Amino acid sequence: MQAPQEKTSKSLQELGVTQRSQVDSLFAEVQSSFDIESSKEFIEILWKEFRDEWLGRKSGVLSQITDNWLKLAPPELKPAVGAALNKLRAAVETKIEERRLSIESSEEKWALARERIDLSLPGVVRPIGSHHLIRQVFQQIEDIFFSIGFSVVEGPEIETPYYNFEALNIPDFHPVRDDMDTFYLDLPKGATQPLLLRTHTSPMQIRTMENRQPPVRVIVPGKVYRRDNPDATHSFIFHQVEGLAVDTDISFCDFTGTIEYFVKQFFGPAVKTRFRPSYFPFTEPSVEFDVSCPFCGGSGTAAGGGTCSKCKGAAWIELFGAGMVDTAVYSYVNYEQKKITGFAFGIGIDRLAMIKYSIDDIQVFFQNDVRFLRQFP
Ligand code: DAH
Repeated sequence: MQAPQEKTSKSLQELGVTQRSQVDSLFAEVQSSFDIESSKEFIEILWKEFRDEWLGRKSGVLSQITDNWLKLAPPELKPAVGAALNKLRAAVETKIEERRLSIESSEEKWALARERIDLSLPGVVRPIGSHHLIRQVFQQIEDIFFSIGFSVVEGPEIETPYYNFEALNIPDFHPVRDDMDTFYLDLPKGATQPLLLRTHTSPMQIRTMENRQPPVRVIVPGKVYRRDNPDATHSFIFHQVEGLAVDTDISFCDFTGTIEYFVKQFFGPAVKTRFRPSYFPFTEPSVEFDVSCPFCGGSGTAAGGGTCSKCKGAAWIELFGAGMVDTAVYSYVNYEQKKITGFAFGIGIDRLAMIKYSIDDIQVFFQNDVRFLRQFP
């Protein structure tokens, strides 16, 4: 069938229509091409084209019929053309509105179907993580010290040389500063003192004693920094738990008894402890605590014979440094040196975790490979 525009662009005269019956069949033709077109499937955008094709003000089929057929019709045909046009217009308008409604409601149905929430789908399962092994070891240590009356304090990772060194009896010229040389911060012009990343948790001994009178019993878990090159046993960032107990009558026995209690709680009752003389500027006397090798039961011999690979046959493993607080330290915090005694210790957590869980590379704590982390749920 021809598109109706072919005829509606011409006048009745040009089409050779001179009689009423011709008018009727002409309109019947237009009506039937409308019927065919309007029965097609269409979506909204095509519906608009369709509407404009028929009802558009300028070039819509109905406007064309009005302009070319009706207005130019000879007077005797005008009423018939007018009546037929009204009929056609009513039919076209009704149908187009009908199609609009049905498109709208089916679009809505689609939208509803698309947006429907299917409650039977398995949800997004987010795996539950676990505490990092270092955090777990911190907690084990905290629990042990809580059980004997210690509490936790935490302090800044950025320190002044005063707290990190001087007040701990490490003056500027002291050779141990060489070992502890660390990361100094770039400061804005006019800053009054240098700042550095703390090399140990010991500065919190000073900060705690500045704020509290004896008795003091605290542990200080935290991160520390040193200018070490990374290898299997070194990292420029690692973790410590500092301990400090100060009172009027704390003896060396209290000190070793506390440490022994801690080590047995942490590694199990079968281990033995020993201490060896050592040196730290802020303790006097200073000691290094060892634990009997938990892997070979302190024999130095592996289960299957041969040398124990963990303690290398030594039967003991070095654990951490400690000592009775040097009286010089009390003078920095206005404690009465003569009346006060106490002990302190500084435990390297990474090292302790490596011993307890048989880990041979400190770097795994920082790489955070989930294959490693998952082993400690
Ligand atoms: N601050 C020392 C270090 O990082 C460890 C230490 C040793 C801490 C003896 C202490 C202590 O409190 O008494 O190497």
